[in-house]
Amino acid sequence: MHFFTGASFDRREQADALVISIFADKKVPVEAFEEQTRQLFLSGDFSGKLGECATSYGSLPSEARIFLVGLGEKKTCSLEHVRQGFAQVAKEAKAKKCKSLNILIPHIEPHAQEDVLKAVCEGLYFGAYSFDAYKKEKAHRIEEITLICPEIHLAKVVSEKVTKVMTAVYQVRDLVNTNADECTPEYLATYAKNLAQECPRLSCTIRDKSWLEEQNMGLLLSVSRASIHPPFLVECSYKGNPTSSDHTVLVGKGVTYDTGGLKLKTSDGMESMRSDMAGAACVLGIMQAISQLGLSVNVSAVLPICENAIGSRAYKLGDVYRSRAGLTVEVNNTDAEGRLILADALSYAEEHFTPSRIIDIGTLTGAILIALGTEVMGYFSNSDILSEEIFQSGLRTFERTWRLPVYDEYSKYLKSEIADIKNTGARTKGGSILCAAFLKHFVKNVPWAHVDIAGVAFYDEALRYWPKNATGIGVRLFVDYLEHLAKNQAK
Ligand code: BES
Ligand code: ZN
Ligand code: ZN
Repeated sequence: MHFFTGASFDRREQADALVISIFADKKVPVEAFEEQTRQLFLSGDFSGKLGECATSYGSLPSEARIFLVGLGEKKTCSLEHVRQGFAQVAKEAKAKKCKSLNILIPHIEPHAQEDVLKAVCEGLYFGAYSFDAYKKEKAHRIEEITLICPEIHLAKVVSEKVTKVMTAVYQVRDLVNTNADECTPEYLATYAKNLAQECPRLSCTIRDKSWLEEQNMGLLLSVSRASIHPPFLVECSYKGNPTSSDHTVLVGKGVTYDTGGLKLKTSDGMESMRSDMAGAACVLGIMQAISQLGLSVNVSAVLPICENAIGSRAYKLGDVYRSRAGLTVEVNNTDAEGRLILADALSYAEEHFTPSRIIDIGTLTGAILIALGTEVMGYFSNSDILSEEIFQSGLRTFERTWRLPVYDEYSKYLKSEIADIKNTGARTKGGSILCAAFLKHFVKNVPWAHVDIAGVAFYDEALRYWPKNATGIGVRLFVDYLEHLAKNQAK
């Protein structure tokens, strides 16, 4: 999808469709260019309600058809409504096999034109995605989009930025959708290495099994033991502000397939478990986007990567394993493997980088889906400041986040009789919270947030502009977070 800009409506180039935004409070279709378009209103088939997208065919010299996109009432039109509307446009364009679109960009007070343009471009990218790697028949691609508005410079800058971020989101989705038999730990580590080579100021080091042994990463090594694929720890660093000592570390859960281990999942529960590396993929997407945008921040990624398989070498229920931090863990559930590998990664991240803050992201618990559903992701933090910033980024990007508590009192449910701690507690004590309470033991003295994306990383059905399967959610959220961090530090 390539964006072009045009200041003049009258001198626009040929395209397969002209896109016009219509608001529901506009009683007379002033902008209805043609009789056919007027008929759409008069018949009541189209009223400008949010989510509506109608096509009319006329005799415009430049376009064979007009798409009318409903954005609802103008006075209550939010940027999210714009995103939703334009996602619908992209879907319509795909269905009608349009290769090129001319889009008239609306002004929607009180929103800044920059924000409207951003939402339009994001919406188009959201609606245009499809994963066809395993299909004979390839999906239709929209090739050229011309944004028509007086602010052509702004439109160019914004569309280029959105393209960088959404390209990262697309790559995250593709990676998560890829077969687990293809996207093995080695594949994911190599992907990170190749990504770093393509991205400015990004470096990548792959740590192999012998390094993990030297580091005493007993938990990551145990989880990976039954798999034919050895584990890795991937470290990526982006230095966007070399003169600053501020440093964010992002830790991402990279379980390329989660069978549950000896606490074997049900077939239904296992079917989507190629998505259990969505946290690591998301972190790589964030690294890619901030590097392409050239953000003035220093960020490192630490990705524990392995497969939670079954077999005679599988780590055992009831046995005690030693973490890198020295704490011993009674594994009373081999399916709660994510917190185990994150524990080793977190203790390494804090000790090795002494960062300003650590944010871990992963598909940790099914319980987060029960608590919050698929509309928001749950997060936990030991810092009110960090927490508020994550919340605000959620509101801005509409990748919304909701803080849950991680009070000390929860830790008693993880007491073990034979080890320092066990990896799970009773279901009735707050499944997702206990995961956060477990991880808290491996974070000593640094602002930290734990983001559980198990409810939002992989959908079993499409939701608004989100596709079925991988969503790539979290990339836009944390790019926004890091953009604001850069802005605040520049003050
Ligand atoms: N990978 C799963 C979490 C998950 C579940 C992600 C559903 C996406 C959709 C994780 O490793 C897991 O199995 N967690 C257990 C924790 C429990 C044993 C305390 C779970 O949610 O059942
Ligand atoms: Zn699991
Ligand atoms: Zn898992």
